[in-house]
Amino acid sequence: MLALTACGADPAPGPVEQIIVREPGAAPAVAVAATEAPASTLIADGKAAFANCSACHSLEQGAANGVGPNLYGIVGKNAGGVAGFAYSDALEASGIVWTAAELDSFIADPAGKIPGTTMVAGAIADPSKRQAVIAYIESTTAN
Ligand code: HEC
Repeated sequence: MLALTACGADPAPGPVEQIIVREPGAAPAVAVAATEAPASTLIADGKAAFANCSACHSLEQGAANGVGPNLYGIVGKNAGGVAGFAYSDALEASGIVWTAAELDSFIADPAGKIPGTTMVAGAIADPSKRQAVIAYIESTTAN
């Protein structure tokens, strides 16, 4: 009876918890703010990096396919889904859904991810550049 009362009614843990949680929380919050570029910078970088892609791909809604398919709205689409583009059998059979993570590994090494793809150029080795390009592609679709 004594134990039950003490357990249910004791308000002491509150302030003690606050002191413990606040201190370690402060350092990571500062670190994240310092390393993460603002979204506008990322997208501007990605727009510049899309020069690696624009020889073959348009990002404009309704624009014609080029050497590669139009990439408007590609994030979330099934691979091989752009109308009127003659894909490789390898890409059509890949079963990929173009999430940001799938785009990232494809742009890093197209033929490594999809052996037999006809995308023979445009790979970006720098991970932060890939992240920027993907953010840019996503941003044009969201507009
Ligand atoms: C030399 C031309 C060329 C360049 C440069 C190029 N691509 Fe491609 N891309 C292609 C071709 C061709 C395909 C179709 C591949 C296939 O069918 O196997 C393709 C396919 C794709 C697909 C799959 C589309 C779908 O509908 O499934 C994505 C995504 C893509 N490219 C993104 C990019 C990005 C992002 C860049 C720049 C970083 C880029 N590509 C650079 C020619 C290119």
